[in-house]
Amino acid sequence: MKTDVLLGLQWGDEGKGKVVDVLTSGYDVVARFQGGPNAGHSLKFDDIEIVLHTVPSGIFHKNIMNIIGNGLVIDPAIFQKECEEISELGVELAGQLFISRKAHLIIPTHRIIDAASEVSRGKTKIGSTLKGIGPAYTDKTSRNGLRAGEILEPDFMRRYETLKNRHVDFLKQFDYEYQIDETDFFAGIENLKRFTFVDSEFVLNKAMKNNKKILAEGAQGTLLDIDFGTYPYVTSSNTICAGACTGLGIAPQSTGEVFGIFKAYCTRVGSGPFPTEQINETGEKLRSIGHEYGATTGRPRRTGWLDLVALKYAVMIDGATQLIMTKADVMDSFDTVKVAVAYEINGVRTDEFPYELNDSIKPVYKEFKGWRTSISSIRTYGNLPAELREYIGFIETETGVPVKIVSVGPNRDETIMR
Ligand code: GDP
Ligand code: IMO
Ligand code: MG
Repeated sequence: MKTDVLLGLQWGDEGKGKVVDVLTSGYDVVARFQGGPNAGHSLKFDDIEIVLHTVPSGIFHKNIMNIIGNGLVIDPAIFQKECEEISELGVELAGQLFISRKAHLIIPTHRIIDAASEVSRGKTKIGSTLKGIGPAYTDKTSRNGLRAGEILEPDFMRRYETLKNRHVDFLKQFDYEYQIDETDFFAGIENLKRFTFVDSEFVLNKAMKNNKKILAEGAQGTLLDIDFGTYPYVTSSNTICAGACTGLGIAPQSTGEVFGIFKAYCTRVGSGPFPTEQINETGEKLRSIGHEYGATTGRPRRTGWLDLVALKYAVMIDGATQLIMTKADVMDSFDTVKVAVAYEINGVRTDEFPYELNDSIKPVYKEFKGWRTSISSIRTYGNLPAELREYIGFIETETGVPVKIVSVGPNRDETIMR
């Protein structure tokens, strides 16, 4: 069997956690392929509400193998807290969760560098989650990083100190006061040792050979991709479909369905361009009804209309074969719903996502009639209001990809499969 990939088509927080949890029952393995604790994936089922950061969103299904792939950066301290929360809900984690020994570690000074460099950027700060993601990936690519497997080596402490000292030297350039607190980090290292480290590329390729079904779970979204996102206001990994290949050790021809997930509108947290942003009553309404506050940082998310120029770009880069739309229910009370179908840049109209998004971009909108009814209890596509089906039909025509799942609420069962 090939590996299916589920990833975000916007600026993250599209509802990946919820939908992976819904889809997991059809899979044998769920594997995260990039990112780290910058991710916040919310799951809601029975009376349980939880936000996952490093652990794949398949963890609440029995007898499913969950894998943290080589493409991730793990903060041992945050991971330990997450383990405790999950264990309290009765999950026997160590038997179900496996970690690639090639995943990289976030150490305390990575977080300090993240904070110091954000402060030094002033107005041009990225709006990073301050989890040390950028500095950890920087060390990975500059070949100075520490890999998870190294914690079992006798000279781990020496390697750790070498890296920490490099960081302390580097931090001298910043006018930034800090203290290095290592207590939780080392407790987290001990916790990590409870887990089985694997070469996940072998585990996954063998699983495929044995006809097991694998779902690869992305973090962040396509517009935050280090190469194709709104650089430099991006994260430091490849969030696109190709990231599943490098982040898990799966060949391109071994990827199957690509589920691209998007919100019926748009949000972004952190700095950077956002052409369809609504800094007005509409934006406020989307934020308050949609509870648009960061699952990891609690920051208010910026909100705006769906941007088809950006969505079509993401569908192209990811090769999405199926679309999943979430949170249309947030617009249940709207009289009209708008979608950007093109950009006008210095008076010239284009439907291609440009090299740089700047203030001269004016979205060209198409307006749709709102459906003015609550959709959260609907479970069959045909029962959705005609206005919403028209909205979805338009998105399908524009992107050329079918919308196969419509999520109508945060709960596991608030989902329509077509
Ligand atoms: P992720 O990072 O892509 O997993 O998404 P987040 O968990 O950060 O943000 C999505 C938020 O929307 C969470 O609070 C979810 O519980 C919630 N959510 C997911 N799908 C739906 C939906 O269809 N409707 C509503 N109202 N909320 C949803
Ligand atoms: P999930 O997986 C939304 C954003 C940050 C910032 C930029 C860089 O929950 O969708 P970083 O800490 O990675 O250096 O921050 O990326 N960002 C996210 N935004 N959802 C996420 O993850 C994000 N992870 C990072 O806000 O703008
Ligand atoms: Mg999130």
